[in-house]
Amino acid sequence: MIQTVEWTDEGVRFIDQTRLPTEEVYVTCRSYEEVAVAIRDLIVRGAPAIGVAAAMGVALGVKQSSAADPAALRRQFDEIARVIGETRPTAVNLFWAIRRMREKFEALAGQPLPQIKTALVAEARQMHLEDIAANQAMGRHGAALMPASGGVLTHCNAGALATCGYGTALGVIRAAVDAGKKIHVFADETRPILQGARLTAWELTKDGIPTTVIADNMAGAIMRQGKIRAVVVGADRIAANGDVANKIGTYTVAVLAKEHQIPFYVAAPWSTVDMNTSTGEQIPIEERSPKEITHHGGKQMAPDGVQVENPAFDVTPHKYVTAIITERGIAKAPYAEALKELAAAAPVTA
Ligand code: MRU
Repeated sequence: MIQTVEWTDEGVRFIDQTRLPTEEVYVTCRSYEEVAVAIRDLIVRGAPAIGVAAAMGVALGVKQSSAADPAALRRQFDEIARVIGETRPTAVNLFWAIRRMREKFEALAGQPLPQIKTALVAEARQMHLEDIAANQAMGRHGAALMPASGGVLTHCNAGALATCGYGTALGVIRAAVDAGKKIHVFADETRPILQGARLTAWELTKDGIPTTVIADNMAGAIMRQGKIRAVVVGADRIAANGDVANKIGTYTVAVLAKEHQIPFYVAAPWSTVDMNTSTGEQIPIEERSPKEITHHGGKQMAPDGVQVENPAFDVTPHKYVTAIITERGIAKAPYAEALKELAAAAPVTA
């Protein structure tokens, strides 16, 4: 299995996703500040992987802390949480992970400092295991929704590389393939930084799952040709009403799917569902560097001085979503009620 995120004695180790698919290179972040840079610079990306990376970053910062007493360690904890919390705003898994680490930290109040450090490392490692278990459960729930054969379109990368292993959307596809379904994946290349062409195609090809990369602007024509039987994507944040924030371009795919009567599924762990955000309107959308649009492979593609917009994510209103697949089960419209029910369901443990 690909080791997207790994705790080691030296620090937090990542496969460097900026170098794929041509180079399989691993980097070890030896401080929490380096973990924050790895998240911001997309060495590690994808909402669930960002969450576990953040938890491990917090654990690393606390482990390395020179604080001599609980009050000093608390001040240090707040600083670590602030630095990691400022890396990327949209994937709610980042904030979910920091909150879970803070709750653990609070629960350990009064314990000797070495015990606190050990317990926080153990918590982050447990989150890593739980993420894989959640993906496998999502796969079990979602495989039944996949067609027995034919094309399934996905956008961005919601695979092993976006998680601690197996993947969300690609986990559903993997489980369907394991169940004997003859699926051919169509991977949108996913402009501007090509997570579909570089990452989805890389990991599916490695697994021997038939994959065709298409430019984003081809999805409509390919659907019209009858080549797509279902769409499955991941999510960075799902609001309480079922609106879904995911990689820019997802909304376009959802609208196209509706026009062609193709089911549009979203697969995400419960840590991506934000019951405190009522609709997609309130989801903060990360704006990234204009250079991601104006330059490609180091080459300038647009004239100097041109205006650029580069929102990394968009929001798909819930009316376009056929079902949301989580490890706790499948939610269908009306989403406000269905998600409330899943909120009360038992979490999947590892
Ligand atoms: O900017 P990225 O590459 O972090 O964006 C990733 C996505 O939009 C994924 O689809 C989402 O995080 C789900 S990953 C299981």
